[in-house]
This record gives sequence, C-alpha cells and structure tokens, in this order.
Amino acid sequence: MTAQLMEVKGLSKSFGTMKAVKSIDFSIQEGRCVALLGPNGAGKTTTIRMLTGLLAPTAGEVSFRSLAPGEDRRALIGYLPQTPAFHNWMSGMEYVVYAGRLCGLGVSEAKNRAKELLERVGLADAAKRKLGGYSGGMKQRLGLAQALVHQPKLLVMDEPVSALDPLGRREVLRLLKELKSETTVLFSTHVLHDAEELCDDVVIIRSGEVALQGSLASIRSQHRQPVIELKLDEDNTRGMDWARAFVQRTNSGEASYSWLSEAELRGNRLHLTAAHMDQARQALLEELARHSVPFSRLEVGYSSLEDLFMKVVGE
Ligand SMILES: Nc1ncnc2c1ncn2[C@@H]1O[C@H](COP(=O)(O)OP(=O)(O)OP(=O)(O)O)[C@@H](O)[C@H]1O
Ligand SMILES: [Mg+2]
Repeated sequence: MTAQLMEVKGLSKSFGTMKAVKSIDFSIQEGRCVALLGPNGAGKTTTIRMLTGLLAPTAGEVSFRSLAPGEDRRALIGYLPQTPAFHNWMSGMEYVVYAGRLCGLGVSEAKNRAKELLERVGLADAAKRKLGGYSGGMKQRLGLAQALVHQPKLLVMDEPVSALDPLGRREVLRLLKELKSETTVLFSTHVLHDAEELCDDVVIIRSGEVALQGSLASIRSQHRQPVIELKLDEDNTRGMDWARAFVQRTNSGEASYSWLSEAELRGNRLHLTAAHMDQARQALLEELARHSVPFSRLEVGYSSLEDLFMKVVGE
C-alpha cells in the first residue's frame, strides 16, 4: 500500500466567463507516474499551473500530505513548463546553478548539484556551451535538470515531449523512464501513446472535467470490450448498402440486438462493439448469410485503449 502524496479537491479555474477547469478531483500516490491526458484546450496546463502554485484557483484546493502548515509547496515540486524560456546567452551549467540558487542552494552546493544533474541528463559535454545553440531535445533535458535541482518529491512536466522531433522524443522518454523510478511524476500529454509508454495511472480530462481516471491496468481490463470488425468491399454497393442500413437500424433503435451494444461504419469497415461475443459472432454470420453480404475480412478481438480514449475525449 502506497502513501498519498498529493490531493486535488474541487479544483476550478475560470477566466472571465470561460470555465477552463471545472471542479476536478484526483490524488497522486507516492512513487507513481501519473499522466494528465486530454486533447488540446482540455485544461491540462491550467490544472498544472494551479498544482504548482503559479496560478490561483477560482475554487478548490491542492494539498500535500508531507507539507507542514505554512510551508511552501514549491519546495516539494520540480516543474518543467510547456514552453520553458531560457536565456540564450547563458551556458547550461550557468543556467542550472542559477536555478539552484533561486531554490535557495548555496553557491558550492548549487555547482555540485548542477554538475551531477547535467551528467545525469546527458549534457556534461555541452555544459559550457551557450543555450542558444542547444537543440530542442537538449533544452528539454536541461529543463529537467533545472526541475530536479532541489530534489523535489514531485516532478511535474507539461507536455515534456510533444514539441520534440522523434529523436529528441526518444532521448527524453528514455530519461523519464529512469527518473520515474526515483521520484513521483505527473506529466501532461495529449498523446495516448506517450501516456501508455510511461505512466502507471491516468487522469483523462476533457473540457475541464475528469472524464476517466484510474490505473492504466485497471482501465484496460475494465473497459476492454469485445469488438468485431467487418471489412466490406467498397465497390460492392450491396454490401455497403446493407452495412449502412444495419447501422441506421441499430442506432435509430428500429432494431435491437441483444448481442450488440454499438455499431459504426468507418469507411468500408463495420465496427461492432459486442455485448456477448459468442452470440454476436453467430448472429452476425447468420445476418451476413441471409443478406448475401460480400465481405473481405471478419476480425474478432478486443477494444484497445486508443478506442476508449477516442470515445472518452471524442465529441
Ligand atoms: N490566461 C487565459 N485567459 C483566458 N483563457 C485561457 C487562459 N489560459 C487558458 N485559457 C483557456 O482555457 C482552456 C484550457 O487551456 P489549457 O491551456 O489549460 O489547455 P491544455 O489542455 O493545456 O491545452 P494544450 O494541449 O493546447 O496545451 C482553453 O480553452 C484556453 O483557451
Ligand atoms: Mg497545455
């Protein structure tokens, strides 16, 4: 059983009449890696800025278990913003020392820590080079070194890999995989794949509200549904007409099949979410035979996390 590190309760933010974050609740357990997942404009940055104390919430609160009353939560948090601004005239070393000094480290402590961290993020050789000449991936790794300078309990990153090219992404993802075994991590992303690759828990937000949350493993097993995909011959009007009519009949409620929970036509693929797989398979084959529907492939499987994500965040 892990201990709770942070709890968010009823957190809300309005910008004028625009409600960017609408009373969200979630908690972070110590040692976990949590992805705040959601499409553009969902409210990820706003939420993160409230967590880190950079933005005052309209309502709600963020509490840390290990924080003494009156203690500043920023001492516990290392933060990498979505678009960090660096002083191009500084060297990597100078920048991390500067960050350490801002966090209250002494001169020699800040220097030692900077050296150790630059090595850690693979920038030891570039430590004396000016930041203006750093690549996107290098800047993001430097941002990580900066965020870790005061040995925070929680590392918070806003879209740490979204702006990087494939090579930069790989470098940063590799580093994050290492870091997450050492500290609790919260990062935001709109890319499901990045969340799947790194995190233990997900909080999916949509239009400022929590749409779904839990451990990746439990979400996977709870929301896994049997699906059947039937590939029709696009040039064959009989097959396509049947599929269109079938979807229309099902979705309008004109026909109801106990074995089927959802039908959707995606191009020339009929995508069926089944209520009972065995019955569905049998009934569908009978239906296909009855209408002599020509098809090129019939595939039986389970819905993926991608299907679920699209359903949760899709309009
Ligand atoms: N300072 C602000 N003033 C007015 N509206 C804002 C402000 N900051 C954010 N918003 C609005 O709040 C909503 C949530 O924005 P936010 O930046 O938190 O989303 P996000 O999930 O981080 O999106 P992205 O994936 O594009 O980074 C958006 O509709 C945005 O336009
Ligand atoms: Mg954002």
